[in-house]
Amino acid sequence: MTKKRILTGDRPTGKLHLGHYVGSHRHRLALQDDYECFFLIADLHMLTTKPGKDDILAIADNAREIVLDHLGIGIDPHKVTFYLQSAVHEVYELQLLLSGLVTVERLQQLPTIKDMADAAGLEQIPYNLLGYPVLQAADILMPKAHLVPVGKDNESHVELARQIARRFNNQYGEVFPLPEAYVVGGTLVGTDGQAKMSKSLNNAIFLSDDPATVRKRVFSMYTDPKRVSADIPGTVEGNPVFIYHDTFNPNKEEVEDLKRRYREGKVGDVEVKEKLAIALNNFLDPIRERRAYYAAQTGFVDELLYEGTLRARQEAQITLSDVKKAMGLTGVWNKISRAAERRRKKQLAASEA
Ligand code: TRP
Repeated sequence: MTKKRILTGDRPTGKLHLGHYVGSHRHRLALQDDYECFFLIADLHMLTTKPGKDDILAIADNAREIVLDHLGIGIDPHKVTFYLQSAVHEVYELQLLLSGLVTVERLQQLPTIKDMADAAGLEQIPYNLLGYPVLQAADILMPKAHLVPVGKDNESHVELARQIARRFNNQYGEVFPLPEAYVVGGTLVGTDGQAKMSKSLNNAIFLSDDPATVRKRVFSMYTDPKRVSADIPGTVEGNPVFIYHDTFNPNKEEVEDLKRRYREGKVGDVEVKEKLAIALNNFLDPIRERRAYYAAQTGFVDELLYEGTLRARQEAQITLSDVKKAMGLTGVWNKISRAAERRRKKQLAASEA
């Protein structure tokens, strides 16, 4: 039995952090053995909110860092095809061909588009930002993916890709399996207590941060603001330090003991944070180690991305050809070109006679 396929990816805006890991990337790790995996660097998507020349110049380095982050968490370079979206020309074509299967209203109703525009400080929505989910559908349908592991915020986009696939199949014939979102992880709060960890909010701990940076980040974390001294009973629920303890500290006894004493006003923030810093650094140590191992091999990541992109292009060509055949577009060109060739041959024969 051939394996089913996964497609997922990241915009190359920076390194991956713990929020990425919790929301999506740990599932990629868990699924890599059971699926054939395609992970893209979504640089065309990045252009919807960061189209500046300086942003574009930073893509290559950011792409390398993201691949290293994946290898760091334990993704096997032999099991996954990493590729650069902008170098797969077929995806530009597929997006256009799929764009007739969705209405402008449907896209405008997605809260994610407005959110991304707001986050980028855009007052008006550029055409490519409105089309963001259509491009994402093209990504997903390109390798005919079955499963799409994404964070909660991307669920509606996978739903749209599914709708587009269904419409295409109904209208032109069965080409695509219907892709399904795989959304399991929650959203990790930021170190400042804001709902979401994000580089732009400056409340992130990166997978590649060194131990001292992690420690510093932890010690500046937001906790229970009412607790101005260690003898005041504190709230554990929703408290970022305890959310992180629950997520990253494997010593459940220690965590329960800290929670109990916190509630009773019998532990200082310093001890809670010290133990969290240790737990996080223990969690990150093997990640940093694997990362460094691959980073030390000059050109390895570039070769991985290069080979992966060639591989993705092969798949893309097959799908695009299937799509054009199903739509009848291949037939249009065939009619014209064959008739033209017949005429040329005739003329050639006549001139030789
Ligand atoms: N939209 C994803 C993000 O928020 C990136 C992405 C682009 C993606 N194409 C994809 C994710 C296809 C999953 C599948 O960064």
